[in-house]
Amino acid sequence: MKNFQIQYSNKVLTVTISRPKALNALNAELLDELKDIIQELYQNHDTRGLILTGDGDRAFVAGADIKELATLSRDQALELARKGQELFKKIEDCPKPIIAAVNGFALGGGCELAMACHIRIATENATFAQPEINLGIIPGYGGTQRLTQLVGRGKALELMLTGDQISAQEAKTLGLVNHVVSTRDELTSLANSIMNKIVSKGPLAIANVIKSVNAGFGFENDGFVAESENFAACAATYDFKEGTAAFIEKRSPNFTGK
Ligand code: CAA
Repeated sequence: MKNFQIQYSNKVLTVTISRPKALNALNAELLDELKDIIQELYQNHDTRGLILTGDGDRAFVAGADIKELATLSRDQALELARKGQELFKKIEDCPKPIIAAVNGFALGGGCELAMACHIRIATENATFAQPEINLGIIPGYGGTQRLTQLVGRGKALELMLTGDQISAQEAKTLGLVNHVVSTRDELTSLANSIMNKIVSKGPLAIANVIKSVNAGFGFENDGFVAESENFAACAATYDFKEGTAAFIEKRSPNFTGK
């Protein structure tokens, strides 16, 4: 694996996303590797759970890779959003517990990835946002749905329309994260203690809790389809080209509504 470090201990995988030069941003190669890891988690009888975290102190994941997004056509953007949604749904529907241990920026696709996990815990320096609006696009990996489910419509709309970053403490108040700790060591230790408690229960009951909680949130019942189509529509705009160019050129965007 090029973009992950993987450790296995006490039947639990700790998977560390490691693409430090881009603050662990999710490019196509990284998402393909993550898909393989999740598939292996489904299939391997010995593995009972997975803890997902980011390498370094700065980022869990700073979003989808903007340099890759910038060149997408509308059809390619639709395909990317559907592919990402499918992978994140696999995470959400996994019959074994997946805990996101968020250690820094969880932005855009990074916040969406954390939200697809069953439980989120964070260090106090972690920050959360859906900043896609600043690029002239919308969340495309399920964020419009899961953020709304987790924090309610009013706050979700505010966060997605302003692109504002919130602190770990605020994320906890909103119900976006379950626990906040001070240090990286405490994060690792809390993730492991929650995981060990869960995996000491019966695997079938664990799987059925997850299945039952998720039963009302399938692709059929909500806006995932609308999200991928609207993501693609945004990708075809001048504003999106301008938003991504501005990020890459390290300047402010000039949006014109075209
Ligand atoms: N994609 C690609 N590269 C990224 C990236 C991203 N999402 N986030 C950071 N990087 C890269 C930067 O380009 C920079 O690379 P260079 O050194 O080669 O210039 C490096 O990581 C370090 O980043 P900064 O210099 O920007 O660090 P900073 O401390 O000044 O700022 C930050 C940190 C606030 C996280 C800033 O990097 C940032 O705003 N990143 C983008 C966040 C974002 O908009 N995420 C959403 C992406 S869209 C999305 O996710 C769509 C979806 O739902 C599918």
